[in-house]
Amino acid sequence: MDTVIQQVTNNLKRYEMVRKAGRGAERYLLNGIETVLDFRYNIHTRSNDVNPAFQDDEGYDPISYPGLKCIQEKVGIAEGEVLVDIGCGRGRAICLFSRLPAVARCIGIEYHLGHARIAQKNAHNVRGGVAPITVIHGDAAEQSYDDTTLIFLFNPFGEATMRRTIDRIGLSLQERPRPIRLVYVNPKHENVLAEQPWLTKIDSFFIPNRIHRSLPTSLWRATGHAQG
Ligand SMILES: C[S@@+](CC[C@H](N)C(=O)[O-])C[C@H]1O[C@@H](n2cnc3c(N)ncnc32)[C@H](O)[C@@H]1O
Repeated sequence: MDTVIQQVTNNLKRYEMVRKAGRGAERYLLNGIETVLDFRYNIHTRSNDVNPAFQDDEGYDPISYPGLKCIQEKVGIAEGEVLVDIGCGRGRAICLFSRLPAVARCIGIEYHLGHARIAQKNAHNVRGGVAPITVIHGDAAEQSYDDTTLIFLFNPFGEATMRRTIDRIGLSLQERPRPIRLVYVNPKHENVLAEQPWLTKIDSFFIPNRIHRSLPTSLWRATGHAQG
């Protein structure tokens, strides 16, 4: 009996080692693909800076290239779209969206000065970019969202900043009523969106990602204007 238990334990240990090696190889390969794609678009967006850098920050992790493609296909890009990436990091999403002919403008907002500077450089250098890109260094909760039609967030911050930012978006809709859509990747605080009477969840799906393999994503729509 003892020998059988010993054999099962050894097999489980071996299985665990193979599984870990597989995950390591997968991560290595996916990182390589990301590097190649950065090179293709002439930008530098990779970083392992996942630790929060300031209060209520979730840290920097660029959206995966396959994830971005999936979002573009699922959400669809309307003619004349003005896209804002709230917490744009090093600007991967705004650079990629700027290559789409239907997009009129891209805006990136980033609190971390180092990332914001790199995003500005990437915006200037991106290969095949057609829409103009503006990178704003500052707190997303203190910006104006006038004119934006497609709002993108990849889990940038905690609930408190989310509330303040959504209030700003609501205010911009009161001042300038227009249809907008909001894409929230890894929507940890989507309860804040669900509380807004002017926002409706219209879809939810998973996108491919490097580290967690897939990430939940939700799509919201606001029509007309926000009531206070
Ligand atoms: C998960 S990363 C996503 C980066 C980028 N959107 C992408 O998809 O590649 C979140 C980013 O939000 C930024 N961030 C956090 N709090 C912020 C705030 N209050 N205002 C602006 N940016 C913020 C972080 O510095 C980080 O770069």
